[in-house]
Amino acid sequence: MGAQHDENKQTSGDDDPSRQDCASIADVSVEVATVDHTLQKLRRKYRKTRRKPKGLKRLWLRLLNIPYITVIITAVVFVVVVIMWSLLWVFIFRRESNSGAYFAGMFRVANVEFIPEYRQAESHEFVSMANKIQHVVNNVYKMSSVAKLYKQAVISDLSNNNKGGVLVHFWMAFVVPQLKSSEMCEECLAAIFRDSVHTSLNRSSVGYLLGLPVDIDSILINGVQRSDYSSNTADSQCVDKMYANLPGVMVPLSVFSSWGGINCHVKLTAVPGSLIRLTITSFVIEPSDCVNDALTVYDALLPMRGRILHSLCEPVSSAVSIVSTSNFMLLSFRMTNGNKNFRGHFEAIAEEVCMSQIETQLEPGIRDRMYSPFYPSMLPPQCSCTWKFKTQNSTLGVALRFHNYVLKLKDMNGCDQGWWKVNEVIYCGSYVGHDTVFRIADYNPDMEFRCSSRTSAQPFQASYSSYSMNQPCPESHFLCNTGLCVQKTRLCDGLDDCQDESDEVFCSRPTMSCGANSPLHPLLVCNGETDCTDGVDELNCTHETTCSAIRYQCKSGSCILKKNAKCDGLDDCQDRSDEADCACGRPSPLTRVFTSTGLERIVGGVNSAEGEWPWQVSLYFDGHLYCGASVLSTDWLVSAAHCFNKQRLSDPRYWRAHLGMLTQGSAKYVVEIQRIVVHEYYNAQMFDYDIALLQLKKPWPPSLSPLVQPVCLPSSSHTVTDSHRCVVTGWGYRTEDDTVLSLVLQKAEVSVMSQTECKKRYGIISPRMLCAGVPSGGRDACKGDSGGPLSCQAPGGGRWFLIGIVSWGSGCGRPNLPGVYSRVTKFTSWIYSHIR
Ligand code: ARG
Repeated sequence: MGAQHDENKQTSGDDDPSRQDCASIADVSVEVATVDHTLQKLRRKYRKTRRKPKGLKRLWLRLLNIPYITVIITAVVFVVVVIMWSLLWVFIFRRESNSGAYFAGMFRVANVEFIPEYRQAESHEFVSMANKIQHVVNNVYKMSSVAKLYKQAVISDLSNNNKGGVLVHFWMAFVVPQLKSSEMCEECLAAIFRDSVHTSLNRSSVGYLLGLPVDIDSILINGVQRSDYSSNTADSQCVDKMYANLPGVMVPLSVFSSWGGINCHVKLTAVPGSLIRLTITSFVIEPSDCVNDALTVYDALLPMRGRILHSLCEPVSSAVSIVSTSNFMLLSFRMTNGNKNFRGHFEAIAEEVCMSQIETQLEPGIRDRMYSPFYPSMLPPQCSCTWKFKTQNSTLGVALRFHNYVLKLKDMNGCDQGWWKVNEVIYCGSYVGHDTVFRIADYNPDMEFRCSSRTSAQPFQASYSSYSMNQPCPESHFLCNTGLCVQKTRLCDGLDDCQDESDEVFCSRPTMSCGANSPLHPLLVCNGETDCTDGVDELNCTHETTCSAIRYQCKSGSCILKKNAKCDGLDDCQDRSDEADCACGRPSPLTRVFTSTGLERIVGGVNSAEGEWPWQVSLYFDGHLYCGASVLSTDWLVSAAHCFNKQRLSDPRYWRAHLGMLTQGSAKYVVEIQRIVVHEYYNAQMFDYDIALLQLKKPWPPSLSPLVQPVCLPSSSHTVTDSHRCVVTGWGYRTEDDTVLSLVLQKAEVSVMSQTECKKRYGIISPRMLCAGVPSGGRDACKGDSGGPLSCQAPGGGRWFLIGIVSWGSGCGRPNLPGVYSRVTKFTSWIYSHIR
């Protein structure tokens, strides 16, 4: 800069070019020397004031430069975050993915005499025996393939038992990483235990395990809930032990919820060689989900999952009694807030020798009774009984009239409601809602019964008599497929006298003869359709008359001929009860109802419109759409029993109901389920009684109306005629081999088929089933629609009634194979008995 400046000075000060050149060279050299000098001076001066930084310090100074600082801060933050994340993962997440697995088990130590001191867990004798056994159990699992997961075993009880020796009841805890949870099966743990016992070749089931004589056949290990484990071990202030030392002496029991919010266990033990009969005489509880509030009875001394005899979660109206399979039983009483208690007693009873010789009377028609073992107590999971009948006359057989129970030839499936052998032929029993007669065409038949359900089952009784094999029913009677005899005059009268409709199917179509000669068929009378040209079939329909299943019963108890009197807008009953409770079955009038767009999708369905089916509910299980349901009231839904059939499916906590939904995910109201009531006669093999009620945790608010609304529940006399419009709705599959559910609620119009037609297609159709479809197929419900409604509209734009519940079908939409629905009219009183 200085040189330039001087140069400029020179140029502007002298205009002679030759002089200019010379002068400039000399000047430049002078100037260069000057600059160098100045710089050196400056450097010296600088050195004097600030010493030059060396090594690290220089680096430091460089780093203090602004862009460097940003980079460093970023790097430090990054490193800290990585470290923290690793620590979190190691100490929290990894620990969380390790979960505790808890088991309870029992086994018999043979050749050891039981002493009364073993009953006291504090006694020296108990402690020393328990330590010894604990050492053995520890050894078994610490030497096994699950050694790394094994945490500890705790011996909780030593009991005397029917086989002699001492029965050991113990807990085990494992810490299991999620990935290894499959190694934690009950059977695997039991197998490890069994394999450790050294047996000799003398066929005895008793072998040795570190010197302890263990009965291999007695080893049983079962999963338990974590809460049961902790309530039994850590805070055991609510574990009680009670004994029935003398047979036949009743020991009173009374448990109150004064503790509040805990899990109480009462362990019952009876004299060896006996069983325990527990009788619950009163049980105060609000009906709940059966998870948080329940009294559970176990066939064990610890709450083993596979040994549940019975769970009670509703108040009992009459005494319930339950029998164990050995000399102990556990009552586990879970209670959240509220006043709950149960009272009852228990006693030691003898194992029943259930064998009887029965002389049937020669005179057909004279009846005596036979009962299930321990009647009227519930049946334990194991029992057996034999009856040997003797009849003097070889032309007579034995007829057993069962109450609410039926025997059917065993098929491929197992029997889970009673196993029967009658003269070498195997039958399965099942519970139904009516009487049946089982006829054995043999005068000296042998009958064997074995309990075959996993938990306690309902008792049964039958009356028996001899019957003439040549003529099973009296003259003028008809033999039903249920074994019952009904008067021939009752054939084809529109009433299911046989209880399986065998007197009503394959009848010729009701004659339309409306003349004076033959009486009008009862099904045509007052069904809302004019069948006679002069209309006589629809006259005087509101006159009071005798009651029957096909007549409408008013609240007062009197009956009228009109079948569909309920909510039709006319006061038919004198007490007007037929028009009370009619805020149902009217879709929102504001919405446009779309008709077919020609874009046929779900097995012949089309998109529904918003508010078109305000009772349609979508049920989500564990976050996935699983079934449909219908709104019955502000807190009750109705669905199919088969949606809730397995262990987890029956637990209300996994379910959510989506109400007021058209497109998946757009529900107006999503609510938890308080409890699930599955029909007590639901038969998973036949899909009979396929109905369940769901109570919502919180009723839906009235503000959601009209997008959420109940459907009308038909009276049991309600009949669907040709002029009804029936529509099935749901988000289920669109074809049989579809893989995705529909996004928009689909609807398809179908027609209700006669029971006779339906039986021709499927064979086994119970009176609780109804078929609907179209003859060519192609319009039907499918997988995912189950539990949803088949809604039928009363003629003339009337209200919509819930006529069917999607239940089953062979494939979807196949020609001549209609959809099968639960027939709601058969369940009217069952539904009201729960929701009112
Ligand atoms: N069981 C099926 C479900 O779980 C419904 C089957 C209905 N089938 C029929 N073809 N209608 O969703």
